[in-house]
Order: sequence, then structure tokens, then C-alpha cells
Amino acid sequence: SPLSHIRNFSIVAHIDHGKSTLADRLIQSTNTVADRDMKEQMLDSMDIERERGITIKAQTVRINYTALNGEDYVLNLIDTPGHVDFAYEVSRSMRAVEGSLLVVDSTQGVEAQTLANVYHAIEADHEIVPVLNKIDLPASDCDRVAEQIEDVIGIDATEAIQVSAKTGQGITETLEAIVQKLPAPTGMRDAPLKAMLVDSWYDSYLGVIVLVRIMDGVLKKGERIRMLSNNSVHHVDRIGVFRPEMTVIDALGPGEIGFLTASIKQVRDTRVGDTITHEKKGTEDALPGFKPSQPVVFCGLFPVDSAEFEDLRDAIEKLALNDASFSYEMETSAALGFGFRCGFLGLLHLEVIRDRIEREYNIELITTAPSVIYHVYHKDGSMIELHNPADMPDLTLVSHLEEPRIKATILVPDEYLGDVLKLCQDRRGIQLDLTYAGSRAMVVYDLPLNEVVFDFYDRLKSVTKGYASFDYQMIGYREDKLVKMSILVNDEPVDALSTMVHRDRAEMRGRAMVEKLKDLIPRHMFKIPIQAAIGGKVIARETLSAMRKDVTAKCYGGDATRKRKLLDKQKAGKKKMRRFGKVDIPQEAFISALKMD
Ligand code: GTP
Repeated sequence: SPLSHIRNFSIVAHIDHGKSTLADRLIQSTNTVADRDMKEQMLDSMDIERERGITIKAQTVRINYTALNGEDYVLNLIDTPGHVDFAYEVSRSMRAVEGSLLVVDSTQGVEAQTLANVYHAIEADHEIVPVLNKIDLPASDCDRVAEQIEDVIGIDATEAIQVSAKTGQGITETLEAIVQKLPAPTGMRDAPLKAMLVDSWYDSYLGVIVLVRIMDGVLKKGERIRMLSNNSVHHVDRIGVFRPEMTVIDALGPGEIGFLTASIKQVRDTRVGDTITHEKKGTEDALPGFKPSQPVVFCGLFPVDSAEFEDLRDAIEKLALNDASFSYEMETSAALGFGFRCGFLGLLHLEVIRDRIEREYNIELITTAPSVIYHVYHKDGSMIELHNPADMPDLTLVSHLEEPRIKATILVPDEYLGDVLKLCQDRRGIQLDLTYAGSRAMVVYDLPLNEVVFDFYDRLKSVTKGYASFDYQMIGYREDKLVKMSILVNDEPVDALSTMVHRDRAEMRGRAMVEKLKDLIPRHMFKIPIQAAIGGKVIARETLSAMRKDVTAKCYGGDATRKRKLLDKQKAGKKKMRRFGKVDIPQEAFISALKMD
């Protein structure tokens, strides 16, 4: 189709504001899918995935739309991941389209995630069409929310479209706005091929599927392509578009969005944001700003049962095939034996991978404290990246440390503001901004990432009863007084419990940890000292007194079933313990000890 009749867009929204429902509606009202085939949440591929037992990630759809002016348009919607961990992917996919629908629930208003994503859209020079959704609900207040969009985001919302993705009201207006307000893509058909790798995923039948946006030139089936980041060459065996089911076509031209397959074995071999060109007579001019997404949070994953190490290796290798942003290397811990040091984009990413290993591969894991990457400067001026507190060099060699900082944006109803400020202050935050929009406050903090990775999000939710929304971006490294704190149980250091902490907070953190561990570790037949130390100096100490453990003592009389139940429970509890020297430490201790309440 001619460029003037193509519109490429994404939908920016906070979770639950109706992105999927609106997408479904757009697809349905243009008869992209016959009504009888229309399932709820067409863009949400999980159901299809389950049904057919294959992986389809149809997060992109091509819609044919005949506008009220009688002209035929091709509308390409690409979906963007919603979570903070995937900020880089969001910013890349925004560069593949020219406009965004900004969907805001008109009963709720703007949330932090909306803000973060809309800024990516603004940075990508998007034309932005505000859409106020859920107008069928009595609590809908379009005037208030439109005003809030203008105040907080600073874009004109006077022509915001009022929509109910549920009833279909306002859908035609939305389609017309896409055609009338969003710019058509530009690009040269005769120029050398330049395409952006927008996304990629693994399909068990087709191998790796690559989503591309053609900038210049034409891509045809059978051609040989080259990825500019690593000069790897591939033979294109299939080209197509999503309607939303995969439909094979012959070629993709400038401004178009579609997929290719090229017998690529692993998702790791494809990089979001990379430039794809022809092997011969290609462009050397890469799209700007390409950087592979880097893991920022690291932790150790160890099998509870050391006999399961090979199974764990297998699971991790399989998961990594389909997730280029997940890194791993083997690690040996004096306390935990063989395992892996793994890198993640953020905490959610970590939790997703850990849960999949436990659930899909049935391996019980010990997860060590999540850590960020520190820059450790030696006195001779050299610098190393520290991924694991256990690798901290000898202090006599170290001149100083730097830690990663983030800019966090939090939106919260007034009444919880005080608690949020206190939480941020407690986590060594520096307030950058505080503004109001109606009855909500927007606070911006500069925070150390390491203070956010354990439980910041949980704490934020709990102090605000779930009403706060949160988003962050990395802003760089800064020097601070950071030290490694070790934990000794029964005089033996437990390497998996060592953490990096700020010197001024070490005593407090150390005390909190040993107190927690005292509760988490069951009593043994002997006294167990639990200590926190920096270098050789003990900064906190608790003693777990000795006790003969007789769990059935509480049960008077001869209730045999109850007794057996208790014994079974104790046995099950045992399985999740790990022995350190002479002491059994439960699996949960490794994470719980680090949480601060
Ligand atoms: P995630 O997929 O979790 O990111 O959410 P989403 O933004 O895609 O929201 P989704 O479309 O799943 O909608 C969230 C909820 O709001 C669902 O229960 C929808 O049925 C409901 N919903 C969406 N649009 C409307 C609307 O216009 N009116 C009403 N009443 N409910 C709506």
C-alpha cells in the first residue's frame, strides 16, 4: 500500500485501563477477524498458546480500514510491554511507529506507568491521541481526567476521544482519529534495505519469529539479510503479517510492519533495536540508539537438592534460549554448592524466571539476595563491575565504590503522601520534584537501585493500600559509602547471605537481619550465635538458644492423626532446609532475612 495510506501506532496505557479491550474492539469493528472467530482479548496470545500448544505472540496486528472519506487504509498496531523492567523494549518499539493512542481510564486518571510510557512516545516524536475509556461507567469523569492529562503530561486533551471499549461507543471516532491525526510513515522504496528489529520470540514450529518495521527498501522472501550489530547473515524463508493470525505475503515495503523467519535458532541471536539490511548492497547506516538490554539485577539460583543441579542447568539453558535479556553463569558457593549467578532486567523479570523454573521444571530453588552491579575502583585506578558481593576485592586494594541510581516517579493519593515520602527517605532517596494534579501527588525521587530491588514495590503497595503507582528509569552511577556485610551463623560465614549496604545503615540492617534470622532458623540442640560483620568487625549479634525440638509436645493425649500430621509437616519443612556446617537454615531465610519492615 502507498505510504500515505499506512498508519502505524501503539497503545499506551496503565494496567487495567483497557488496552486489550480497545485493541479487540478495533480489530472487531473493522472485521479483521470474522465475528464468530472473535475471542475475547485477541491480542492476548496466552489462550491461543494454550489451545494449540504452540507459542504465538501476536502482539501486533494489521487492520484494514475503510475510512469515512471512502479511502482504504492499513493500520498497524504494535503492542508494547507494560512493565518497568522492559523500559528499553518499550522505547525501541515506540521508534517503530509514528503515533500512540493514550488510553486513560476515565474513572481513574493518569498513573505512573502511563506517564513513563507516554514519555517514551513523546521522545519518539509521536503524535498522541488521548482516549478516555470506560465512559459507560457511572464514575466516569472525562472533564477531570482530560484536565489531569493536560496538567500532568502537558499535552492537549481538549479533543480527547470518549470511548467505551466495552460497548463500542467512540470506536469509529478512534479509527478516524488514527487516520486523520497520526502522520503517515516516510521511507524510500529504492534505497538500500533498512529495517528495525522490533521484537522476536521463539515458536516451536517456525523457530525464531522476528517482528520488523521497514524503514527504507523492500524485503522479499528468499533474500539474504544481515544484522548490523554482529554481521550475522540469514536466509529469509518466510515473510508475513498478523491479521492477527500469521498470514504469509511476498514482500514488505517502506512503512510496513510484519514478520520474517530465517531459520534462526535462538532468540539470543536477535537483538531488539538492531538494524536489518540485505547481505549485499545493504546499508551500513545503523538506526540510532541501539543498545542491547542489559541485566541490572543479579542473584544466585541454587537447587535445594544439590542432585538437581543438572536439571537446573537444563531449565536455565532452555529459558535463556527464548529470553535474550536473561544472563547466567555457573557459580559455586561455599554454603550452597553449585548453582548459577543470573542477571535480570528487574525484579519482576527475576520473579517470572524463578517461578517458571520452580513450576514448569519442578525444581526447588534457593534464591540469594538480589544485588545490583557496583563499580569498584581499585587504588591503581582500574575498575571492576561487581555482580556478586562474594567477589568483593580485598578492602586494602579498593579506593571507592559507585552504585546505580534510578529516577522513580510515584503517583499517589494525597492522604498517603506522607508515608511515601518517609519510605523514599528511608531508602536514601533524594526528592527531585513534588507536584499535585487534583487530589493526587506526583513525587519524583532519585533513589539507589539497591534499595529498591528487595521489597520497595511491596512496601509502597502496602503503605498506600495499593493506590500508588510506580515507575523508574536508570540515571547512572554515583559514589557512596558502600560496604560488604557478611553474615555468620554458628561462626561460619554464609556467603549467600552477604550483601552490599550503605555504611551508615549497616548497623541497622545488620541488626534487622540477625533478628530475622533468629526467628527463621529453628532451634537446634546447641546454642547458635548469629552475627553480622563488616570486614572482621562484628556489628550485630543474636544468639539462638538451644532447645530439644519436640514438635509433638504440644499435643496432649493420644490424638495420633494430629501427631502424624505434625510430624509430616516437620518432614516437609526439613526438605526445604539446607545444612550449613551443623546448622539447618530454611530456604525462605535467604529472601526473608533481607526484607525490611
Ligand atoms: P492488562 O492486559 O492487564 O495490561 O490490562 P489492559 O489495559 O489490557 O486492560 P483490559 O483491556 O484487560 O481491561 C481491564 C478491565 O477493564 C477488564 O475487566 C475489561 O473488561 C474492563 N474494561 C475495559 N474497557 C472497558 C470499558 O470501556 N468499560 C467498562 N465498563 N469496562 C472496561
